[in-house]
Amino acid sequence: MTEAAKYTRNHPYHALVRVNQRLTGPESEKETIHVELALEDGMTYTPGDAVGIIATNREAQVASVLQALGFTGDEPVEDHYKNQISLLEALTAHLGIGKLARGSVNQYAKLCGDNLPAGLAALLGPENKALAEEYVWGREFIDLITEFPGVITEPQQLFVVLQRLQPRMYSIASSQAAHPGEVHTTVRVVRYTAHGLDRQGVASGHLGERAPVGATLPIYLHENKAFRLPEDTDAPVIMIGPGTGIAPFRAFLEHRQALGHKGDNWLFFGEQRSVSDYLYKDQFLAMHADGLLTRLHTAFSRDQHNKVYVQDRMRENAAELFAWLERGAYFYVCGDASRMAKDVELALLDVIANGSNSTPDHAAEYLAAMKKQKRYQRDVY
Ligand SMILES: Cc1cc2nc3c(=O)[nH]c(=O)nc-3n(C[C@H](O)[C@H](O)[C@H](O)COP(=O)(O)OP(=O)(O)OC[C@H]3O[C@@H](n4cnc5c(N)ncnc54)[C@H](O)[C@@H]3O)c2cc1C
Ligand SMILES: NC(=O)c1ccc[n+]([C@@H]2O[C@H](COP(=O)([O-])OP(=O)(O)OC[C@H]3O[C@@H](n4cnc5c(N)ncnc54)[C@H](OP(=O)(O)O)[C@@H]3O)[C@@H](O)[C@H]2O)c1
Repeated sequence: MTEAAKYTRNHPYHALVRVNQRLTGPESEKETIHVELALEDGMTYTPGDAVGIIATNREAQVASVLQALGFTGDEPVEDHYKNQISLLEALTAHLGIGKLARGSVNQYAKLCGDNLPAGLAALLGPENKALAEEYVWGREFIDLITEFPGVITEPQQLFVVLQRLQPRMYSIASSQAAHPGEVHTTVRVVRYTAHGLDRQGVASGHLGERAPVGATLPIYLHENKAFRLPEDTDAPVIMIGPGTGIAPFRAFLEHRQALGHKGDNWLFFGEQRSVSDYLYKDQFLAMHADGLLTRLHTAFSRDQHNKVYVQDRMRENAAELFAWLERGAYFYVCGDASRMAKDVELALLDVIANGSNSTPDHAAEYLAAMKKQKRYQRDVY
């Protein structure tokens, strides 16, 4: 067993926070941060891997749940492994009191027995799935127990109603060849207002608000063999990383730079505004100036009236992009799975079809062959 593997979600390493700084400017609509954590000797990772963060719920959020339920927090409960802990610890570190799951609504309703409120009954069953989805969107456990109070009578019932608090994954943004003993991440802090309350994501909120320099964070390293630089260090790579999708490409580039790998590198980065959202700008410009980044294209979607996205930059540079593919380039995509990754794939298919002067079917076969050769890799979430 390697040293790194000895730390898991159930047995995490308590990493010291060395750096926690905002990357986005004050004018930005987003709060994206750069976090550097110290690792123990022997904990190793490869660019492309992720780090699992074991976050805790906010003190104020836990307090409001305790208050709404009429408990003190001192009540003993059994955790998922039947160990006795206090209710306060359970709500802080073991139970998901953040975003509400439909399953929790169902379990909560079961506890009502004959006293099921009509408003809750209306959210049950497959026929009401859409309504239930709409109800849970933007709501947390506190909303459910405030709207339908008096259901939880025993603290242990919370382990039936609530899901286990899960670790969150963050793509590693550093290379150990450049930063021995450290792991870096790029995190967008999730904050929003919904149903009259200010909310924040559990893990990104923890990193954004409760992980100052000098604090410790329980973490573990998570291997991702499906997202790797080419073994051939001379092979060209094309990286599409809008938003926090940039993280693994900073790791790739630092790695190739530190080890003197000769392959060409082409980065496409996209964000809202150049003035406030150009993540790692100085580092990428320096890499471009010294030739490590052969090509660098940015797409700032809100710098002009019409949206410009990374796939628009791909299309503008289609001939050159296809020439790189023909030279055996590896093509990587990281970031938003819901829209960006699909649109980038469509643009890539267009680039291939136009470049090879062929049909969409041929482009699909070309892409399938790239996948088979592990030359098309995605890390999307
Ligand atoms: C392999 C992998 C790599 C990843 N890498 C990164 C990375 O490098 N950087 C990064 O920042 N993230 C990354 N993520 C995402 C990350 O793991 C978390 O999912 C993200 O930070 C949110 O977690 P959270 O605990 O802060 O928020 P949660 O507590 O999970 O809350 C998020 C939820 O809040 C709700 N929500 C959010 N906004 C709104 C809104 N406006 N209105 C209503 N509801 C809303 C949604 O239900 C959403 O799912 C990665 C994920 C994976 C799987
Ligand atoms: N689960 C969560 O709560 C959570 C938390 C953090 C991040 N994430 C996810 O992490 C990913 C990165 O988030 P992020 O805020 O760093 O960046 P992002 O939302 O991906 O935005 C980065 C850039 O991509 C642009 N964009 C929007 N739609 C696009 C499309 N179809 N194709 C190409 N580009 C597009 C955005 O433009 P415009 O905004 O101007 O349209 C912006 O300029 C997203 O999947 C995000 O949802 C999820």
